[in-house]
Amino acid sequence: MKLISDDGIRYDGRKVDELRPIRIEAGVLKRADGSAYVEFGKNKVLAAVYGPRECHPRHMQNPAKAIVQCKYNMIAFSVGDRKRPGPDRRSVEISKIISEALDYVVFTENFPRTSIDVYIEVLQANAGTRCAGPTAASVALADAGIPMKDLVPSVAVGKVNDQVVLDLQKEEDNYGQADLPIAMIPRTGEILLMQMDGHMTRAEFDRAIELGVGACKRIYDIQKDALARRYTVEKTEEEPAEEAPSEQEG
Ligand code: CDP
Repeated sequence: MKLISDDGIRYDGRKVDELRPIRIEAGVLKRADGSAYVEFGKNKVLAAVYGPRECHPRHMQNPAKAIVQCKYNMIAFSVGDRKRPGPDRRSVEISKIISEALDYVVFTENFPRTSIDVYIEVLQANAGTRCAGPTAASVALADAGIPMKDLVPSVAVGKVNDQVVLDLQKEEDNYGQADLPIAMIPRTGEILLMQMDGHMTRAEFDRAIELGVGACKRIYDIQKDALARRYTVEKTEEEPAEEAPSEQEG
């Protein structure tokens, strides 16, 4: 299937090294301790963080640190063919890899015996939701005020029509030759998540990592901007001074 035109334009009009439009909002849920909403092109993902709170069941408690438990879920109508609700192999796998990436950045030793619960709900999917997940969840953790080393931007790189491309969308994911999601800490260069489906040569792999790392830096700036917008107090008109309570005559 031809997914890239002869002049290098992709199925959805992007160039090979172009990200989909990204939108991130922090603090979108009132009852969660921290939350974030992320759009990555047509992906729409919500992340909610609760905790650190007492870990139940108790046998899961770690006396030395908090555990980070992430639950990734796709809602039934997030995909083309209605998805049967509830966990499946894929969501268990994605929950595990995201939990591990987040566990690495949170200062879990500060909160022994607790659980930090992270819920990722995919409202609409168009490939790359395992990357939109940690991107949203790490902003939600920061929004919850949980001490952490850094945010975790994430993106998928891949190979389509023999070309290395950034941020695969659905058709490219389905009919492409390789899919390589990564999550990382741009500041230190540490890679916290890397998977690969398909085949690439060593040179293609190096180019893919180069594209992915560059994109993670851009996503990181959008994450920081979302948090800055959430926590910057808008300068409004001066509030009227509170009136002194009138003295009651006794
Ligand atoms: O979402 P991501 O690319 O990280 O994971 P994937 O397992 O490679 O799935 C790629 C895409 O396939 C998802 O984003 C959905 O758009 C689609 N999908 C689907 O249509 N039905 C499913 N049950 C699972 C995935």
